[in-house]
Amino acid sequence: MNERDIIQKTTDHVRGLLSGEGSGHDWFHVQRVCRLALRIGREERADLYIVELAALLHDVADWKFAGGDHEAGSHAARRWLHSLDVPPDVTDHVCDIIACLSFKGAGVETPMRSLEGQCVQDADRLDALGAIGIARAFAYGGHKGRLLYDPTIPPQPHASFEAYKKNTGPTINHFYEKLLLLKDRLNTITAGRLAAERHAFMESYLQQFLAEWNGEL
Ligand code: ADP
Ligand code: NI
Repeated sequence: MNERDIIQKTTDHVRGLLSGEGSGHDWFHVQRVCRLALRIGREERADLYIVELAALLHDVADWKFAGGDHEAGSHAARRWLHSLDVPPDVTDHVCDIIACLSFKGAGVETPMRSLEGQCVQDADRLDALGAIGIARAFAYGGHKGRLLYDPTIPPQPHASFEAYKKNTGPTINHFYEKLLLLKDRLNTITAGRLAAERHAFMESYLQQFLAEWNGEL
């Protein structure tokens, strides 16, 4: 099978798996991440085949939905790529990217070894920012039965992946625990440029949210 066919089959596979997903990790999230990752990858001169395959497969079995198993995603991707006879060097590279991709807590570093992985990680993080990022945070919070906000529960600077995984705080806390930190944790200059406006939009959203909450607006 040639590279185009592998991308096409993988696209159909992931669309089928994630189409109706209701927590913000649906097929359209994957499609947006693919587009952004390819855009960043073009500017950064990455191998676009690896970028597209990893972006397509990055959320097929996220630890957040696989009982906390953070290797479920790379294992599911490996099984799929194996079934298409994708060469081992490509499979290893894509699975390595997927294993390293996720945010794991404010105090936990998530280094990405390859340029291709850096592009996909940046694209995934950009989709957690801005107007779409806000929508996804509340979709995820609703899916998990979280409160919108509770002023008596302060945000936690999670020092370990274990602590981050156990977190059940309100969704507004997630902005302080993750979303507002992302702009300084991007790998590429291209993504940094795209993040600035999304970050500013979230800051003004939070200001408005808290002003309305306090009856000031
Ligand atoms: P990552 O693998 O880095 O978590 P994902 O593509 O899986 O990235 O998406 C994370 C999305 O899930 C983000 O948009 C984020 O807002 C949402 N999310 C994750 N944890 C929480 C949480 N505790 N509260 C609200 N939203 C969350
Ligand atoms: Ni994602």
